[in-house]
Amino acid sequence: MRFALAAAAVAIPLVSACADPAQHARRMNYERQAAPSPSTTPAAPPAGTSAVGAASSSSGPAPAGSQAPSGVVPPGQTTPLAPAPAATSFSFSLLATNPTAVPLSNIVATALSATTRPLDSTAAPGSVPTFIPGAPALPNAALLNPANYPALDKVPPIDSPEVQQWIQEVQNSGFTIPGLNATLAGGCPANAAFAADTSRCWWTCGGCTRESDITECPTAKHWGLTYDDGPAFYTSDLLHFLDEKQLKSTFFVVGSRVISFPAILQDEYMDQHQIAVHTWSHPPLTTLSNEEIIAELGWSKKVIKDVLGVTPNMMRPPFGDIDDRVRAISLAMGLTPVMWTRISPSATFDTDDFNIHGGLTSVGQVLQNWQNILGNVSTRDSGFIVLEHDLFQQTVEVATGYILPDAIARGLTIEPVYSCLSRPLANAYIETNDNSTNPPPTGSGAAAVLSAPPTTNSDGTGVGAAGPQSTTTKGSSGGIETFRHGTTGAVLAAFASLFALL
Ligand SMILES: *[C@@H]1O[C@H](CO)[C@@H](O)[C@H](O)[C@H]1NC(C)=O
Ligand SMILES: *[C@@H]1O[C@H](CO)[C@@H](O)[C@H](O)[C@H]1NC(C)=O
Ligand SMILES: *[C@@H]1O[C@H](CO)[C@@H](O)[C@H](O)[C@H]1NC(C)=O
Repeated sequence: MRFALAAAAVAIPLVSACADPAQHARRMNYERQAAPSPSTTPAAPPAGTSAVGAASSSSGPAPAGSQAPSGVVPPGQTTPLAPAPAATSFSFSLLATNPTAVPLSNIVATALSATTRPLDSTAAPGSVPTFIPGAPALPNAALLNPANYPALDKVPPIDSPEVQQWIQEVQNSGFTIPGLNATLAGGCPANAAFAADTSRCWWTCGGCTRESDITECPTAKHWGLTYDDGPAFYTSDLLHFLDEKQLKSTFFVVGSRVISFPAILQDEYMDQHQIAVHTWSHPPLTTLSNEEIIAELGWSKKVIKDVLGVTPNMMRPPFGDIDDRVRAISLAMGLTPVMWTRISPSATFDTDDFNIHGGLTSVGQVLQNWQNILGNVSTRDSGFIVLEHDLFQQTVEVATGYILPDAIARGLTIEPVYSCLSRPLANAYIETNDNSTNPPPTGSGAAAVLSAPPTTNSDGTGVGAAGPQSTTTKGSSGGIETFRHGTTGAVLAAFASLFALL
């Protein structure tokens, strides 16, 4: 099926249909790097959310209200965030789409919130995950008491007994944490000296990776499927689709959102998806102190273990924001970083699906990005990992309606990250890992990994070894994960609605 999408013809804001990709990347970078403080203004969740909220969280409060969040305006009333550039048309072909897909013209920032789908099933407390040898019975999520955890969407305090214990454990781990200063908020432009310091191996500014980072699947045409930032209101729609197609994914979950939706996390786990850590409050980790990074990762590990009985051993840094200090702390805490594939500054496997919700890109552009990824995939000897999200209605709609059906029709092998690395699921969790395919990181091993030369791109350009990166172009296009805390009222309000559950 071929789509020639004139963006104007489907009445979507043209804010990101930039003719000049470099200009687009620079603009995106600026926006993505700007990290304003998270909103503290609670807003109502999307209409109909109580179905999932209530079904998924008998301990947490059900989301209040049923009106659409402020910032979401009815279809037809577009509020462009920037002057519309010259008309740009997209041309992409999809081999298949979902017959029940939401029409492309409805996958827009201004879409009304769809009613959320109740989970297909909820696992009973005490159920035994027999698919993971040695895994304990499923805990009772109703016993989860939010009062025992840090606040939603905030970097946890470091003076709690829990965090103090985790700091001790990192100190005793045998890992040396490099004495690198935290970066300033604002990414590469705000940190010219750090961006130029290739020894720091800061992915954000140049795409540097180390041997310890997982950046792809080894086998050609194998897609290590990942979704970030859930559990969330529309995760149940994605789970329903994946189940229908018998697909499994890796979910990088935000710890504080697990408190809001414990039953969704249990459902993902009992459906044999892989659960991994995406921090507690989704900050850019290089901006935090060592102790704060430990708190972010430690609380996420803890809440996942409290809800599932097992602890993940993979993590993804929010925004892909990792350097050798963050790597060492993650490895010291038993967490292996998982990035997304980046072939070159201009070919990073980021669909940018996140930005439809805020009106910063269009579904046409996202499908064009997918098409570009496929083009690059077809020339690669190895497989790949793509950045996508289960946070927003629009990201789930484009995944289930278009990207996944197309990928299936193309015959890609779609599997979770652990599986594309030829490991058993048990080895994706600290408690059940037999250490055969996935030995836990050790201090001496990590020291070697971190002092080794940065990993070279498969295009031979040597990421991170290319000298000072331009802070506005090259550094901009590393595919910074697009989880902004809002540069506009609309985005802020939409965001707040997702964070306002507790
Ligand atoms: C690191 O931080 C310290 C303390 O704030 C400061 O004195 C030092 O100049 C910083 N180093 C670099 C390279 O920015
Ligand atoms: C790879 O991706 C880049 C950027 O998205 C795109 O310009 C290029 O055409 C793609 N390569 C192929 C072979 O499709
Ligand atoms: C795997 O390694 C961890 C950490 O070294 C250790 O605690 C655990 O007992 C090992 N598991 C097995 C099955 O050997």
